[in-house]
Amino acid sequence: MSKTTITAALPYANGPVHIGHLAGVYIPADIFARFMRNKGEEVLFICGSDEHGVPITLRAKKEGVTPQDVVDRYHGIIKDSFQKLGINFDIYSRTSSKTHKETAQDFFTKLHEKGVFKEISSEQFFDPETKQFLADRYITGDCPKCSAPGAYGDQCEKCGATLSPMELKNPKSALSGSVPELRETTNWYLPLDEIQKDFLEEYIESKKGDWRPTVYGQCKSWLNDGLRERAMTRDLDWGIPVPIKSAEGKVLYVWFEAPVGYISATRELIPESWEEWWTGDSELIHFIGKDNIVFHCIIFPAMLHLRGDGFVTPSKVPANEFLNLEGQKISTSRNWAVWLNEYLEELPNRQDELRYVLTSIAPETKDSEFTWKDYQTRVNSELVGILGNFANRVLVLINKYYGGNIPTYDRKQEVSNLSTEYIKPVTDKLSSYKFRDAQTAFMELARMGNKFLADTEPWKQVKTNPKETENILGFAYEILSNIAICSEIFLPETYTKLTQSLNLEFTNSDKKSFWSDSKWYVPKSDNSIAEVELLFSKIEDETVEFQMEKLKNSVESTTTNQTQKEMITYEDFTKLDLTIAEVKECKKVEKADRLLHLTLDVAGIEKTVLSGIAEHFSPEEVVGKQVLYLQNLAPRKIRGIESHGMILMAEDSDGKLRFMQPSEKVNSGAKVS
Ligand code: 2FM
Ligand code: ZN
Repeated sequence: MSKTTITAALPYANGPVHIGHLAGVYIPADIFARFMRNKGEEVLFICGSDEHGVPITLRAKKEGVTPQDVVDRYHGIIKDSFQKLGINFDIYSRTSSKTHKETAQDFFTKLHEKGVFKEISSEQFFDPETKQFLADRYITGDCPKCSAPGAYGDQCEKCGATLSPMELKNPKSALSGSVPELRETTNWYLPLDEIQKDFLEEYIESKKGDWRPTVYGQCKSWLNDGLRERAMTRDLDWGIPVPIKSAEGKVLYVWFEAPVGYISATRELIPESWEEWWTGDSELIHFIGKDNIVFHCIIFPAMLHLRGDGFVTPSKVPANEFLNLEGQKISTSRNWAVWLNEYLEELPNRQDELRYVLTSIAPETKDSEFTWKDYQTRVNSELVGILGNFANRVLVLINKYYGGNIPTYDRKQEVSNLSTEYIKPVTDKLSSYKFRDAQTAFMELARMGNKFLADTEPWKQVKTNPKETENILGFAYEILSNIAICSEIFLPETYTKLTQSLNLEFTNSDKKSFWSDSKWYVPKSDNSIAEVELLFSKIEDETVEFQMEKLKNSVESTTTNQTQKEMITYEDFTKLDLTIAEVKECKKVEKADRLLHLTLDVAGIEKTVLSGIAEHFSPEEVVGKQVLYLQNLAPRKIRGIESHGMILMAEDSDGKLRFMQPSEKVNSGAKVS
């Protein structure tokens, strides 16, 4: 039997994972790995944190901590939340591990020894103040397309244009604010242009009709545009050092080493036999989001091919499109997301509900959409109304009529028919990576069960026709047993609850027959029910309202926090004359709804200030307050009154203004610095 390595994209450890990641990558990968294991296939399910790359260093800088602090924190959060959601990796590793460093350096060295890389010198931006070359993300400037300030060296977030740092107008270093210089540097490039002809075109063509059209199509379009060589080393200080003497101070390109992380994790898990999973006739399957296609379908296969030594290339890459949230793109920087760790805390014991809804709307062929209202509807009408309802009815009736003992019953339905009608659709869809359809086919079992009870009405027959009632409830129990065995791959918590309630323990051979031969499961009837436990409960309106409100507020507060202005020097700051003043008098300004006329006392001197706070405070509320006062703002005449300086206020995310005051009363005129 051949071995199958299933990988799920290594999430960046610069934040928790959100529902977009889950629907696009981790839930489908987990369903598939569970399916393969239950079929009795030899599989490894590999993942880990991607701990290098510029976004991590930017986050560290913003928080004033080290990149290692950032990745340690998020690696822990991500690993823990995956485990709670029942994502059953064989290993969840990390790219800052020793094994990974060795494996990635070894991979690079092997390619280097084979003479694969081209050494190319080019001019790159260099920060003269911090004395380092700048990654694209570290350079900001005005967008050449839309003129927006603050565009990055690789992308303008305002208009979405893909950029190169040289195109930016007025480029500045995001590290020091200084104007970067062009300096020559040497890097090691993978000659993708050459590999395109020698290998990639044929490789991609061989996947036509097999891979999803969206994935094949994207690869074709890259090839049609013509590949160019790409640097596999970078001038950065966070990453894995390039294992060549002349490359001191450089690290491996994160997209070179991260996919090698799949190999490192396998090595870490099974140090003696890892190679068996990466060579020979073993299969390699990558679950990823669409933004990762080029790296997994072009660059990594090229690396594996060039490495030789019998390394296999990816056979399947079921990449998904994107999941949107409440009508907008998920955005981590705008905090427009549902974070897994927060979901698990705020909606405890509802892991299966999330898995179910995200699989129902998985963006397999096109972008799809999560809304909290839809989440509520699917949980209430499908999980509670169909699946939970059927399970509960069967268990309650068996308890009521037979004291929990499964009745002996005459089987009337052909196993082969039931297998073809109900089990085969599930396994067929799973084998073709159609997880949405597979889950719908799984739910068909519960729909059929409900219809069966509604048609046969055992509660009416129980008095007049006891034998027939036994047949009905015996078969209903059989349907529920098939639901139980099938739920393991979609809804692991439900599987645990159902097997406990039904007092069932499925053997490996039961599972193999169900999943591999698509065979309807026939339980032994000398069994009794252990307990009746509700599988699901309704999502109340308040829960949905709370989540929507939270989303709205968090995006607002991030937007407020994020309106970051350009860097200023300390000298700039010292020009501000900030003091604490006391409001002596205050009155409205005639015919100006927003203005208050304040008379301030600053160390015994009176100052007149007009302030646009009349919609927030009445004059009476303001008198007597100590306020933060910018004294040396050039005077301005407003409505015929000369205003000297301004008082400073804090604006909350709800738009309310608050005074900035000392924690205890100070002398008016006290300096603020
Ligand atoms: O896009 C991402 O989140 C990357 N961290 C995925 C890396 S997948 C692999 F190559 F490691
Ligand atoms: Zn732009």
